[in-house]
Amino acid sequence: MEVIIKKSKEEIGAEIAKRILDDIKENDHLVLGLATGSSPLPLYKSIVEQSKKENISFKNIKTFNLDEYYGLDEKNDQSYRYFMNENLFKYLDFKKDSHNFPLASNYEHYDELIDENGGIDIQILGIGENGHIAFNEPGTPLDSKTHITFLSENTIENNARFFKNIAEVPTKAITMGLSTILKSRKIYLIATGKNKASAINIMLKGEYEKYCPASALNLKNDNVFIYLDEDAASLIKK
Ligand code: GLP
Repeated sequence: MEVIIKKSKEEIGAEIAKRILDDIKENDHLVLGLATGSSPLPLYKSIVEQSKKENISFKNIKTFNLDEYYGLDEKNDQSYRYFMNENLFKYLDFKKDSHNFPLASNYEHYDELIDENGGIDIQILGIGENGHIAFNEPGTPLDSKTHITFLSENTIENNARFFKNIAEVPTKAITMGLSTILKSRKIYLIATGKNKASAINIMLKGEYEKYCPASALNLKNDNVFIYLDEDAASLIKK
C-alpha cells in the first residue's frame, strides 16, 4: 500500500487521471471499476479534460460501478447511474452497452459478470466517514460478494446532503462486496477532508479491522494507492 499526500482534491484528480490514461494508452480494452460521491468528481473532470486533449478513446473500455441505491430509477437524479452519466459517461465515446451497475436484476451474477469481462483492472474508491467502501458498512464479511445491504445511520445522515431531506435517502443499496473489490488488479482510494481522517488513521495501522471495511485493503497490499489531502492525513502517526 502506498500513501500519497497532495495539497488539493484537484491535484489528486489530475494525478490519478494521468495514471489511468497512461494505462489506457498501453491497453485500450481496460475494465474500470468506478465510484460515486464527491471524492472522485475532480478525477472524472480531469479524465474528461486530459483525454480530450490527447484524443484518447474509451470505445473499448468497460465499466463496473461499485454500488447503486436499491429501488431508485435510473432517471432519478440521485441514482448512481444518473450521476455517472452526468459526470463522466456522456462526455466520452463509450459504447452504449459498456456500463454495468449492480441492480436487483443482476446482482447475484455481478461478480461472475466482472470475471467474464476479464476482471477489474483499475478500481476507484472513496471512503465513508465510518470506513465504509462502496456500501460495505462496518461488520461486512471479508468474503462478501455483490449483495443487498442496509445503510448505516451514519451513511444515511451523510448522504442526506444530496437529497431534499433525510427521509428521501434510500435505506438499502446494492454493493460490490469486499472480496469483489479486493480482486481488482489496481486500486486508487481517494479521501479528502477532516471527516475522513479517523477512518484513514485506522486503515493505515496496517491491519484488517472488521469495523473499518477500508482496512481490508491491507490484505491486498500490492497496487493499492491511497491519495489523501492534508486534512484526511491529519491523524496519521508520523
Ligand atoms: C457513498 C458511496 C461510497 C463513497 C462514500 C463517500 O456512501 N457509496 O462509494 O465512497 O459515499 O462519499 P464522498 O466521497 O462524497 O465523501
